This record gives sequence, structure tokens and C-alpha cells, in this order.
Amino acid sequence: MQNKLEEIIASIDISGPVPEEGDQRQYYYIKKMRDYTAAKSQELGRKLTACTVTFGCQMNAKDSEKLAGILEACGFDVRDEENSDFLIYNTCTVRDNADQHLYGRIGRASHYKKKNPEMKIAVCGCMMQEKTAVDKLHKSYPYVDLIFGTHNLYCFAEYIYEVYHSDKRVTELWESGDQIVEDLPTDRKFPWKSGVNIMYGCNNFCSYCIVPYVRGREKSREPIDILREIERLASDGVKEIMLLGQNVNSYGKTLEDPISFAELLEAATRIDGIERIRFMTSHPKDLSEDLIQCIKRNPKIARHIHLPLQSGSDRILKAMNRHYTKDQYLKLAGHIRQELPDAAITTDIIVGFPGETAEDVNETIDVVKKVGFDNAFTFIYSMRKGTPAARMEQVPEDVKKENFARLLTVVQDTAKKQAERFAGQTMSALIESVNEEDSSYVTGRLSNNMIVHVKGDPSLIGSFVQVRLDECHGFYYFGHIMI
Ligand code: 5AD
Ligand code: SF4
Repeated sequence: MQNKLEEIIASIDISGPVPEEGDQRQYYYIKKMRDYTAAKSQELGRKLTACTVTFGCQMNAKDSEKLAGILEACGFDVRDEENSDFLIYNTCTVRDNADQHLYGRIGRASHYKKKNPEMKIAVCGCMMQEKTAVDKLHKSYPYVDLIFGTHNLYCFAEYIYEVYHSDKRVTELWESGDQIVEDLPTDRKFPWKSGVNIMYGCNNFCSYCIVPYVRGREKSREPIDILREIERLASDGVKEIMLLGQNVNSYGKTLEDPISFAELLEAATRIDGIERIRFMTSHPKDLSEDLIQCIKRNPKIARHIHLPLQSGSDRILKAMNRHYTKDQYLKLAGHIRQELPDAAITTDIIVGFPGETAEDVNETIDVVKKVGFDNAFTFIYSMRKGTPAARMEQVPEDVKKENFARLLTVVQDTAKKQAERFAGQTMSALIESVNEEDSSYVTGRLSNNMIVHVKGDPSLIGSFVQVRLDECHGFYYFGHIMI
């Protein structure tokens, strides 16, 4: 990858005109920035440094790897938040607490900037697609130097150049974008695993959700581009990939040559070197029988389906615009359990959606008990301006909290019981890190996404080992490596 980057950069002529668009234009600015960072580093007697701070989901984590890759290609060394010359916050806006968290962090960054007045601060990502958030930054955080959104993330190199070559704050926001520019540098966080975007945006407009407004309409990448990327990752030593999209089950439907998600997944399993494939997220309304059968026949596909329920009440599901009923969800989950008995089913649940009563929450609890979720992420409903649910009658905070606590107890009990069913089994674990509490242990992840701690040394990180699951501790296991 590094050699390829150098080859491309060497081929760019920065004495000529700026290329009109696409990756060539960005490489042009990367090369320009290299000259700038080299001169500046010489002046300072040290290398310029940068840090990427990420909020939110796997998609944002993947985007941040691209941001970091571009910064490194421009000549910055990666450093921590406090000691960087260029600091970028990649934001999330799915719930209000993510917004508040960001403002706290940017507030703190003003102190870092006082210590290092040459520091540049950039903010990008989902939150920047909302006018109110950008207005607030403009008004109350004048020391932010660069603001851009989700549709033009690939122009980052160009914006870094602008920041260093103009006296004004740079704000670059696009309302939409249909270009997919992928061939830019990226700095992968883990050598052995990687996310792979298969699609962008979302067309579902669940009535509580801001994502379709900030990420735009659904766009699938061409399968050939995705598969080539996976092949490249495999030749770089990646063993586990996660295919990423807001609703992977609708992948490929709008391509000129339509292809289903199951077909894409099947093709990915044929790539040598890739030993495990995950995907995220499945919308229950679109999960196909083909997909279930594809998982069943392919041991490389992880035994884990994340299937957001959101609510178990038909009335609330309708108001949420989810397009399935409690009964349909239960049938689907039951069918998955039957066809893939060793697979974990995990979910997302929202409590406190407008109009939700204790009765509605009882329906949700009923689904949790009947499906027996292996894990559930539970969220208190957060009103997002501009979504249909924001205009509905809201539930008082204390009612939301009470119902949330009631649900959480059931979710935790259920997950614990589910985890116990694997005790005594031997499974393949991908070792990911040294155990945080005891460095004679390493921590791995099973195909079903559960965590297991085993005695072992750091040399195992990034490899698959067979482990016996000895002791269940609720959400994780202690086990040992089978020789
Ligand atoms: N309030 C609370 N939770 C939300 N989610 C999405 N929008 C909201 C909101 N406005 C949750 C959903 C989704 C997960 C990623 O975030 O459960 O599946
Ligand atoms: Fe939001 Fe619904 Fe799209 Fe998921 S499927 S991103 S919850 S609108």
C-alpha cells in the first residue's frame, strides 16, 4: 500500500494545473501538503503531528481510518489529542448525548490551542450535516479552523491545504453527493481486521432517525470494487473483514447490474486469506432466506446477526416506520434460531419513543424473552430535529427512565442465560489484544462475537486459535487454548 501511494504521488505533477476532480485532485494536494509539512517541520525542528478523534459507529471508525491515512500521506505523524498540530473530530449525531460530548471535547481543545497557537482544529462527520450544529460552531467556537461534512470527506487533503494557506476559517458543506471516491490512502487501525464499506446512506427514514438526512440516499458500491478491496486487504494480511452498510440487506438493488447481498457475501467467502466475514447492519424487513442459507453453508461467515428490533409494540413499530410487526420479527428470529442454532442474535432497542406506554414496553420485553437476545444495545429515545418523531407528543423523562431500567434488567438476564449455552464448547477465536487486567492473558473474539480470555502471549494477536470455553462470566468467557 505504502509503495503504491509513493508511486502515485511520484506520478503527480504539482507544477501543472490542479486536476478537476476525483482522487487525482486529492493526490495533487497531498503532494503540495508534503512540501508544506516538510518545510514547517524543518522550521520547528520536529515533525508536524495530527490526531483523529472518532465518535459513533463502525462507519465513522472506517472514515477516520481514511482521515488518518490522508494526514499521514500529507506528512503528519500520528500523536495524541493534546499534543497534535492538527486535530480532527469525526462526529456522530444519532443521539443528543453524542452532540453534547463533542462540545465538551472541542471546549477542552481550546486549551490545547492556547498552548500551541499554531494548532489547527477540524470538525467533520454526521453532525456537520446539520445547520444548527454548524451555526453553533461558527458562533461559539471561533477557534475551529475547518468544518466539512459526510459527502465531501474524500476532499480532506484539499481542505487541509486550504486551512494552511488561508487566514479564514474553511467551511465546506455539501447537501448531497453521488461520487464514491475510494482509492485514497487509509491508515488501518488493526493489521489483521478491517471494515469494508459496501454501501453508503440510508433510504428507510425510520421516523426517529437522523441518518438518512445526514448520510444521504442509499448508494451501493460496485461489487468488483468491493471484492478487489477485499483481495488487497487479504494480501496485506487481513484475516477478518466486516462488510458495512446501514441496511446491508438492500445492497446492490439499485446497481446497473443488480446483485443481492447474499451473492456479494458468497463471492467474498471465495477470497483466499480471508478467514472470517462479519456484516452490519441488517434491517428485519429485508433479511432474505438466501442470506440465511448463504450463512448456513459458509463457515467463514460469522455466526452473528445484528437485527435491530427497536420496539416490540406493533403500534410503536408503525409510528417508527419500521415496516414489520412483532409477530413477523418473532417468526424471522425463530427461523434464524432454527437454521443457525449456533448463531448469536443481537439487537438495538429504543425506549421512550413518542407515545410509548408501559404496555408497549411490556411487548418489547416479551420479544426479548421470546427471542433470547445474545446481546442488546438499549437506547433512550433522543429527539432529533427535523425527523417526523420530533413533531410527535414526547414521553416525560422520568417515564422513559423507569421503562428503560425495567427493560435493561430483562436484557441483561437474557444475555447471561444465552451466553451460558456455549459452555464447554471448543470454538475458533481471533486474538485481538492483551488482557487489560492481567497481561498473562490475551483476549479474543469468537465467531458469535463473544469475548474470551485465555492464557497466552502477545505474539498470538491477529491469529486464530481453537479455545475451549471453560467459565461463563455473563458477557464473556474464560477459556484455554487447545493444542
Ligand atoms: N434516539 C435513540 N436511539 C436512536 N437510534 C437511532 N436513532 C435514535 C434516536 N433518535 C438507535 C437505533 C439504531 C442505533 C444505531 O441507534 O436503535 O439502531
Ligand atoms: Fe436510521 Fe432506520 Fe436507516 Fe437504520 S434503517 S440508519 S435506524 S433510518
